[in-house]
Amino acid sequence: MKEIFANDVDAGLSASIKSLPSKYFYDSRGDEIFVKIMNMPEYYLTDAELEIFNCQTNDLIQSFGMNGEHFEVIELGAGDGLKVINLLKKLNGFNFTYAPIDISVNAIKKLQKRLLYAIPWLDFDGKQGEYFDVLDSLKDVGKKVILFLGSNIGNLSDAQAHNFMLKISESMERHDKLLIGFDLIKPPQIIAKAYDDPHGYTRDFNMNLLVRINRELGGDFNINHFRHVPVYDEVRGLALSYIESLDDQTVSLSATGKSYHFKKNERIHTEISRKYNMKIINKIAQDTGLIVKETFFDDRKYFIDVLFEKE
Ligand code: AVI
Repeated sequence: MKEIFANDVDAGLSASIKSLPSKYFYDSRGDEIFVKIMNMPEYYLTDAELEIFNCQTNDLIQSFGMNGEHFEVIELGAGDGLKVINLLKKLNGFNFTYAPIDISVNAIKKLQKRLLYAIPWLDFDGKQGEYFDVLDSLKDVGKKVILFLGSNIGNLSDAQAHNFMLKISESMERHDKLLIGFDLIKPPQIIAKAYDDPHGYTRDFNMNLLVRINRELGGDFNINHFRHVPVYDEVRGLALSYIESLDDQTVSLSATGKSYHFKKNERIHTEISRKYNMKIINKIAQDTGLIVKETFFDDRKYFIDVLFEKE
């Protein structure tokens, strides 16, 4: 695990245009900061999707098209259960199992405790592992509704998102459903505020990557010599995060035994948060074997949950 992290960091910092994978944001401190981000009013994504789940619960359930047969509700990423809790409660009487998948056993245990407290009758079957390993193992379990919420898909490039959907589709049977949450393109100042917040949480989230590299890979990044730079590219609909070097400087990592030079104002690209419209969504979903069955918007049309069906 540490070796993969070291290799990824080495590749990213050795490239002519420097980058680091955003998946490394999520150590325990990163998880904590992300909860703060999700709870701040500027991060409209959480409220918008919560509104869809709380106000259109019956329509969502109907769109699943289940009548009596057993089915699995598989959530990719354990989350805190906030969005699904109402949905699961209203599924009372349906013959289903709720199966969240997460790489962290702790996240699943936490969610299990919380959900079983609120819904004691729930058939909870959390699975620890990589999404696709677990999905492969679930190929023959019968009917499925797979959830991928929170615009987590937006942290992938469009090509990666297409491949991701293709792989999920391969684990699905005809008429199985996939519900994906996408953050929509909207006036730029609203998006910019969500990623350049006045509390400094997004800055801490981004800069934590350097803290983690220092701790886990023996780095000597001086955090005060770098700054968080959020950019919203309105033309492409991309919120981008960078870490910018404030000086001409060199940083060493004991895990790679190498040094990395940064010019003054040179940037490390750390995250992409894609914003969507239906045209982009349809293009990504093209040739994946998944067709759009229904769409669910929040009142302000900030966010959309799209229900895909396997052809
Ligand atoms: C997890 N992901 C959907 C978040 C997003 O909006 O791209 C991560 C995040 N980055 C900065 N703020 C939130």
